[in-house]
Amino acid sequence: MSSTLVVGCQWGDEGKGKIVDILAEKADIIVRFQGGANAGHTVLTDSGQYILHLLPSGILRESKKCVIASGVVVDPEQVVNETAELEKLGIKVKGRLFISGKAHLVFPYHKFLDGYYENLKQCHHIGTTKRGIGPAYTDRAARTGIRMYDLVDENRFKDRLDYILDLKKKSIIGIKDQVEFDLQFNLDYARRVRDALMDYVTDTSLLISDALAVDTGVLFEGAQGTLLDVDHGTSPYTTSSNTIAGGLYAGCGISPFIPDKTIGVVKAYTTRVGEGPFPTQIDGDPGDVMRDKGGEFGATTGRPRRCGWLDMVALRYALRINGVNSIALTKLDVLSAMGKIKVCTAYRCGSTVLDEFPDDIYTLPHCEPLYTDFDGWDEDISEINDYNNLPVNTRKYITGLEELGGIRIKYISTGPARDKIIIK
Ligand code: GDP
Ligand code: IMO
Ligand code: MG
Repeated sequence: MSSTLVVGCQWGDEGKGKIVDILAEKADIIVRFQGGANAGHTVLTDSGQYILHLLPSGILRESKKCVIASGVVVDPEQVVNETAELEKLGIKVKGRLFISGKAHLVFPYHKFLDGYYENLKQCHHIGTTKRGIGPAYTDRAARTGIRMYDLVDENRFKDRLDYILDLKKKSIIGIKDQVEFDLQFNLDYARRVRDALMDYVTDTSLLISDALAVDTGVLFEGAQGTLLDVDHGTSPYTTSSNTIAGGLYAGCGISPFIPDKTIGVVKAYTTRVGEGPFPTQIDGDPGDVMRDKGGEFGATTGRPRRCGWLDMVALRYALRINGVNSIALTKLDVLSAMGKIKVCTAYRCGSTVLDEFPDDIYTLPHCEPLYTDFDGWDEDISEINDYNNLPVNTRKYITGLEELGGIRIKYISTGPARDKIIIK
């Protein structure tokens, strides 16, 4: 058995797509197990830039199998569009992609409701991606969701859909005339989904279990990041799935095991898109410089990402709850020529100094970060591919983080392209 889990250790957009793409070269199967098309995983190959929202990033490696497991909420239109775009570019998807029949589907009414609830929440809104994620997971928990297997028998499905739409119209004020809740509209939509996607449906729990039982390399691609976890993130400003390592087992339907490697992807600074607390956020410079140099705009929504220094308090928490063995540190090139580089090592909260991330998230907006300064470097490091050739202050920053986190940094990413990676 050879298994690797890649998990985001911050608020998403750490560069998971790039790291998964690199590791996928040596894997056989790449699996998405949670989240949905809220993800935006960017991969830059010799043939250009790809942004994957639902298909595992391994799809760009042509001989690999890719799995969308049952924990993902599947937006069928997104699967169809991503598949068509890749096939147009000569990347074959059919025969390599496997979708769980138990995966819940995102219907157009879920996307409508995502926006509808965000508007109603007014100043309490989450700043979602409006991809229907919250409403689709809500329906899963409420047992009013629709799964691929529901579409197999049209008569049975019609009954179920009729009841679900009726329930929604009776319980949500203001949606009665929306076409998204019309029975015929949804039946037609479901028929198109069935025709387009049923051939991909398989028992992915069995597929993954069988692969893990023999010497097949399975790479699990986490989406979002630890601090967006629905239970252990900065609630209520989170996504609606378990983004942490623990989400893997329920999301795949496999027995719990410890992956051979759990790689935590960590950006050399911090970003966040959407609402919610962010202790090390910097308004103005150098946060604006990070955004410009790092191209920190959402891969899914295009929204500017809030930027700030690396937060070791939050990172140590992420390393702990995910059982991370080593770190892939990304976007280190962005910190060149930034002057002094700060790293938050503790929070001051009133008269208390906190080393641990607060369990009560209401504390977080009242936490003032306490910083350690590192000397910066001016050199462009994006052409360097040997750790020993990095400027001395860059190496001091890396070893300083290793000491502060009690963890090994194994991969150092110095640019978006595949070859911009240093293995330490
Ligand atoms: P993900 O959601 O974790 O996969 O990350 P995103 O794709 O949303 O955002 C990461 C962005 O940083 C993308 O535009 C990547 O192309 C880019 N990127 C990844 N690694 C590096 C790096 O080491 N340096 C730079 N400058 N950009 C990087
Ligand atoms: P990747 O996989 C960054 C954020 C949204 C919002 C909150 C809830 O690319 O790292 P949702 O649409 O999930 O209900 O939104 O979560 N969010 C992400 N932020 N990267 C992501 O994915 C995200 N997926 C969701 O901005 O704050
Ligand atoms: Mg992203």
